[in-house]
Amino acid sequence: MIETNLIKNKKIYDAIHYIRRKTDFKPRLALVLGSGLGEFSENINVVSSILASEIPHYPVSSVQGHAGRLVFGYLKKDAARSMPLLIFQGRIHFYESGKLDQVVFPIVIAYRLGIKKLIITNAAGGLNSSFSAGDLMLIKDIINLTFLQGQSKDMQQDFPHSHPLEYFDSTMQQKLLQCASQLKIALKEGTYCWLKGPAYETPAEIQMLKRLGVDAVGMSTVPEIYTASALGMKTIAISLISNLAAGISQNKLSHAEVTATADTVKEQFSELMKKLILSVK
Ligand code: HPA
Repeated sequence: MIETNLIKNKKIYDAIHYIRRKTDFKPRLALVLGSGLGEFSENINVVSSILASEIPHYPVSSVQGHAGRLVFGYLKKDAARSMPLLIFQGRIHFYESGKLDQVVFPIVIAYRLGIKKLIITNAAGGLNSSFSAGDLMLIKDIINLTFLQGQSKDMQQDFPHSHPLEYFDSTMQQKLLQCASQLKIALKEGTYCWLKGPAYETPAEIQMLKRLGVDAVGMSTVPEIYTASALGMKTIAISLISNLAAGISQNKLSHAEVTATADTVKEQFSELMKKLILSVK
């Protein structure tokens, strides 16, 4: 793997040094928990837990439902301790700092800790007319309407031309579909569109996105996917459809609705994640 500026960056070095003073745990898979999904950590036998705010240079989210904690451990179900995990409870969004290198900081940290497999989750608005609030969607493709890719000098050097077709690991995607079908979860599949936010879209924007083939819309995940795939990490991403998008839903959109829907599907989400984690060894 190429040793690049972003990876050798002094801030990353400081953060890794701090984490390594706290724990010598060696996770193999990382899970990024999106809006309202942070409670998944209750399924973990925690070996070590570090507040994001303690770690030098680590970007901390101010959005409710993003606890800002790195949890190291094993699934409680994983009696054999076969899959050491790092759970990122919460993430920072691009609109919070306007800096892509902060958004992807956790991914680079995961890489530097030796992690090769990554599951990214988010909350998203649903456009596809077959979707309901509370559905889970495997992200099969991306539309990036921010057109942001390499922003900082470091990142431009790191990721000259990643290959879009290789963003996702098809083996892990297949595993997820199998796990969902075994659990009788009607997992949707679709295209995720990344917008900068922080405002939700207008109904007219949603109609435009629908014509473009967007199934779900949100404000995260895509920069993390670019980085992870450029670093050679096997990655998949899953959206929780927390609401139907503006104009499709009769409700006025709110962050409270997003987290309330996450609450109603957290059991299903947890079962799916646990099964997947134990099957990807
Ligand atoms: N739009 C954008 N981002 C979102 C939405 C939405 O409707 N729901 C959750 N994140």
